[in-house]
Amino acid sequence: MTTASHRGAVDTAVHKGLAGVVVDTTAVSKVVPETNSLTYRGYAVQDLAEHCGFEEVAYLLWYGELPDHAQLERFCQRERAARRANRSLLSLVTRMPDTCHPMDVVRTAISYLGAEDPAEDDNSPDANRAKALRMMAVLPTIVAADHRRRHGQDPIAPHSHLGFAENFLNMCFGTIAPRKLVKAFEVSLILYAEHSFNASTFAARVVTSTRSDIYSAVTAAVGALKGPLHGGANEAVMRDMLEIGDPALAERWLLEKLAKKEKVMGFGHRVYKNGDSRVPTMKQALLDIASATNGFKWVRMYEALEGAMAAATGIEPNLDFPTGPAYHLLGFDTEIFTPIFVMSRITGWAAHIIEQSESNALIRPLSAYTGVPQRSIVA
Ligand code: ACO
Repeated sequence: MTTASHRGAVDTAVHKGLAGVVVDTTAVSKVVPETNSLTYRGYAVQDLAEHCGFEEVAYLLWYGELPDHAQLERFCQRERAARRANRSLLSLVTRMPDTCHPMDVVRTAISYLGAEDPAEDDNSPDANRAKALRMMAVLPTIVAADHRRRHGQDPIAPHSHLGFAENFLNMCFGTIAPRKLVKAFEVSLILYAEHSFNASTFAARVVTSTRSDIYSAVTAAVGALKGPLHGGANEAVMRDMLEIGDPALAERWLLEKLAKKEKVMGFGHRVYKNGDSRVPTMKQALLDIASATNGFKWVRMYEALEGAMAAATGIEPNLDFPTGPAYHLLGFDTEIFTPIFVMSRITGWAAHIIEQSESNALIRPLSAYTGVPQRSIVA
């Protein structure tokens, strides 16, 4: 591996979208598209999904190693103790227009948490891990309260005896979900947690590179994740499936879309060209959810679209494709799919923010000017 000096010769080639450009090193996760492999700190994501809880994965991303029993206990206790949103934060949520997208609420809430923190500008790794834990703990409370207010329901306070995933489901729906559904939901959180230099993580690293604070970096990342070419795709997938309505109509719908040269949401990936490494694990979670909720219509829809897309283009689904119907079957409104993605990806963003702070170089690329040549103002 070579590390080019940022003071070296200028590369004048234009790399639109930074495609194929290696901008820095990272020890957080590794994507190998050729073998469809994704590891967090060296562990295969499929193994983490099978054997670990979401809190263990968060710890792994932030500290570099899986926790032992005592470390996990302490970490979970701190997370559980930080779940409550104070009155001013909850009132901010309720004052947001209920016509706004829930991602706007998340973006504003993160920014507000920064404004509330007197040590906002302390960028030491320990301070950033503590702030990240607070964001990870309180975000589900905000997302659930927002979900409920849109249904005219009062918020449900977090329970400190429930795990992260189970507590969130309870705060949304007011019931303790069956273990199988909690596990399937937790698998989605583990798969969403981290994915190297994707657009939102890179946005967070750009902000961090200016020595700005973690809240500003996460706010920028939330904005990047909202877009339908990134995290917003999980919502778009479900909207498309609902529009199609009947799996028997899926192929015709898809072919019409492709004929109009439109993108089919939930398919394709900048890095994976032969299939997203996370999809088989998430598809199994979708099957588990469908069998517990009698939701096989959406599995048939999934398979009809997947088959038609493969036949027409050879393009494979990405993680957002199984996650969309899985979240729908769990009972979530479509608009909170991407906020749920934030609840998980905050862990990966924080790991990258800490890494960027520890080995920083201001991220400031060049551009090739294509405007009018220099000219004079005619007086
Ligand atoms: N539907 C239809 N055609 C597609 C799709 C798609 N979903 N994805 C790629 N293609 C086609 C493009 O039209 C293009 O064809 P062309 O060469 O004939 O013009 C070719 O495949 C290459 O596609 P690009 O968009 O140039 O590839 P890029 O690497 O820039 O895009 C992206 C990756 C943005 C994810 C793209 O596949 C896409 O828009 N997918 C839909 C949105 C989506 O699902 N995003 C979620 C990403 S994963 C995540 O955030 C968890």
